[in-house]
Amino acid sequence: MSQSEQDRQKIEAARAALRMVNNGDVVGLGTGSTATHFVKLLGERVKEGLQVRGIPTSVDTKTLATNLGIPLTTFEEVQMIDVTVDGADEFDPRLNLIKGGGGALLREKIVASASRQMVVVADGSKRVEKLGRFHVPIEVIVFAQELILAKLAAIGAKAQLRVVDGSPFRTDEGNHILDCDFGLIDDPAALARTLSDMPGIVEHGLFIRMASIVLVADANGVIEVRPESPTKE
Ligand code: 5RP
Repeated sequence: MSQSEQDRQKIEAARAALRMVNNGDVVGLGTGSTATHFVKLLGERVKEGLQVRGIPTSVDTKTLATNLGIPLTTFEEVQMIDVTVDGADEFDPRLNLIKGGGGALLREKIVASASRQMVVVADGSKRVEKLGRFHVPIEVIVFAQELILAKLAAIGAKAQLRVVDGSPFRTDEGNHILDCDFGLIDDPAALARTLSDMPGIVEHGLFIRMASIVLVADANGVIEVRPESPTKE
């Protein structure tokens, strides 16, 4: 898919998500290029009179939303988000996700976990039968990094420290990211549990049964994908 076609699909998916937002909603604002399109479109609606309060999933999204005049709130004021709209790096037929390509997976997962509905917006390249072609981002505390690298190697993962402009990438919380190749993942829920059980891993980019719906664009338009029921757990 060409870059311009991919961008077009991202914008169409983001536009489709506007219909999931109602007047008065608290809206989780995702991070990444597709979520950015959504935030910009939401900003236009706010200028037209839509009343919402946003909870951003990153410093970048907070800055964008503030510049667009979208009112923001925090978990001090509200503990339940009506709908979160965010992107994904991959989604499978059960709507399990890999997220964190933009490094915001920790706040993204917290916001998604506090949401009545998590709406994922994606271009067609994000749809896969099995997760794992995109490397799973894992946010680690710097103190534990070498320990986690050894533990990941022991379970067969190839992990690489994320480096940007010659320096380790720092998340909004000041942690590092390890991008991990597990091959194609047969059982994402089991892998997610294994990773969650490793002290020093702050969060990982496997989002298991968190998405309510994916709005995925392709050459013909936007399709709503809902989770296939599991055949076994
Ligand atoms: C950021 C994310 C993004 O949602 C994900 O990387 C998809 O990004 P894009 O919409 O730019 O393809 O998880 O941490």
